[in-house]
Amino acid sequence: MENKSIYILAIESSCDDTSAAVLCNKKVLSNVTATQKIHEEYGGVVPELASRAHQQNIVPVVHQALNKANIDKKLISAIAFTRGPGLMGSLLVGTSFAKSLALGLNVPLIEVNHMQAHILAHFIEGQNEETPQFPFLAMTISGGHTQVVLVKDYFNMEILGETLDDAVGEAFDKSAKILGLPYPGGPLVDKYAREGNPKAFSFPKPKVEGLNFSFSGLKTSILYFIQKETAKNPKFIEENIADICASIQFTIINILMDKLKKAVKETGIKQIAIGGGVSANSGIREALKKAEKNKGWKTFIPKFEYCTDNAAMIGIVGQLKYEKGNFTNSSVSAKARYTITQAEQPI
Ligand code: KG4
Ligand code: ZN
Repeated sequence: MENKSIYILAIESSCDDTSAAVLCNKKVLSNVTATQKIHEEYGGVVPELASRAHQQNIVPVVHQALNKANIDKKLISAIAFTRGPGLMGSLLVGTSFAKSLALGLNVPLIEVNHMQAHILAHFIEGQNEETPQFPFLAMTISGGHTQVVLVKDYFNMEILGETLDDAVGEAFDKSAKILGLPYPGGPLVDKYAREGNPKAFSFPKPKVEGLNFSFSGLKTSILYFIQKETAKNPKFIEENIADICASIQFTIINILMDKLKKAVKETGIKQIAIGGGVSANSGIREALKKAEKNKGWKTFIPKFEYCTDNAAMIGIVGQLKYEKGNFTNSSVSAKARYTITQAEQPI
């Protein structure tokens, strides 16, 4: 197996990004993503529109991924696809496409759990010099997810905590919406926060047991605060945007870091690997760097293109499962609710 080149064509369509990638062993040859602008005007992802856009995008995206990788589809060893979790209408497009393509090319099919893929993206080659060593803690933070996971091995993971309501990216986006910023507002909050005072305003941190998270209360308290202040001064947002964003970001990052510190204390594990779109946030990056220095943690963040939803992370799981001969029956169906622990273990 060592000398043989395994080519995986991977497909991701769980939310609002249509992505296809080609990997050769653990290297990415291409990773093409079509993002769906249509949702911007609605201030969030509209499932029906996402599904339709996937249908339009999937053929050109796969075609482009094969072209960029510069390989003939006859060389493909297997097709990997996201089975779940995600939006059913979106997942169905990728699942059906992957199934038909595998049948047409007469190659095995590999199902991938999207949350496992966010974590295993750390093992894509050509990123950092080192990869996390098992066991490590993974925190997946994006517009759809907020989880802290104990990763004992590639396919042996335990969810230690997760959000009970909104995901952390949603907390950023919904706060931004209250401030009148366009969707997705997370990167804009981050941008303004860099110029502001994080202690200018204070917002209550939720009291949630264990390693779980909750962000819906924070959103409400920000809304009430803004309503109260703009009633006194209609220009309050405009005049204080940097301080407001810095204070919101400070609160959210504190919530995340508190739980990470608790997870480290409970498990004794100091290797932290983060992923998901919110990993781009300058506040979390800074907080992790500080913890490396002050607490002796070792932290890992994948390249940004492997943090947001992408097919390369589906491809790396495909590679790992291929090596184990862990293939999927062609009668497989998409699974909107699909936890890491439900994910099929390798045989
Ligand atoms: O992983 P991702 O691209 O898609 C999923 O939601 O699965 O994550 C997108 C989320 C959005 O909520 C976006 O606002 C947030 O990540 N985000 C950020 C930053 N960049 C992206 N949030 C805060 N600061 C950022 N720099
Ligand atoms: Zn995701």
